[in-house]
Amino acid sequence: MSRIPLIAGNWKMYKTVPEAVETAEKLAALCQSIHSVEVMIAPNFLAIHPVAAVCKNSPVKIGAQNLYFEKQGAFTGEVSAGMIKAAGAEYVIIGHSERRQLFGESDSFVAKKIKSAIGCGLKPILCVGETEAQRDEEKTFQVPDKQVSDGLKGCGSDELKDLVLAYEPVWAIGTGKSATTDQVNTVHQYLRSLTAKLYSTTFADQVRILYGGSVKPENVSALMDLKDVDGALVGGASLEADTFINIIRFDT
Ligand code: 13P
Repeated sequence: MSRIPLIAGNWKMYKTVPEAVETAEKLAALCQSIHSVEVMIAPNFLAIHPVAAVCKNSPVKIGAQNLYFEKQGAFTGEVSAGMIKAAGAEYVIIGHSERRQLFGESDSFVAKKIKSAIGCGLKPILCVGETEAQRDEEKTFQVPDKQVSDGLKGCGSDELKDLVLAYEPVWAIGTGKSATTDQVNTVHQYLRSLTAKLYSTTFADQVRILYGGSVKPENVSALMDLKDVDGALVGGASLEADTFINIIRFDT
């Protein structure tokens, strides 16, 4: 079993195109000597193409933060998987808690997006995680279990070879309050056994599970030391190249 760590930056709705390009240029230069870790940044849709251009000869890969599952058509304001791929992205974040909470995305909607991403050769990063209230109600395993099971419904293990899962407890996002290593460990172990139950142990051994929620240069090493943590999905601390590189270099 060898799972290459993935450190991914979710830039959310930050940065104009020139700002995104400037940060990406800096990051690409800082990442030239990074080989043992996969690095990805997900700028807003407008910036995907120019950011992909400046990262072309660097180890930095590009992702989108969302997609719409139809190929094309009269869907005003939406962007398809094929369009994202053609703009230069390799990954796409699907089912982020902000989309679930602010835009009402359901698990069945998420499942359609996963299917569409795979169909276009985009690598999906499926985000799951409980809110603080759900944790208080002792639904810490139940919530991500349903989000994974229903979000992957209808997909076979062969289709999901590039799937990445991201455990992002909602209460840890943007709060500065990361989950403890114990909390992260138990949920990641749970999710890995869930993928074994849904697919196979071989599948569970190779699927990468990222942690997200207030990851910073100060806490990344302890998180990455956990056996079932294969990377990080970073929001705020990915916006500045000088900070993000210190997360990417977690093992130095
Ligand atoms: P923060 O790192 O800002 O907590 O955001 C995490 C996140 O939502 C990544 O998708």
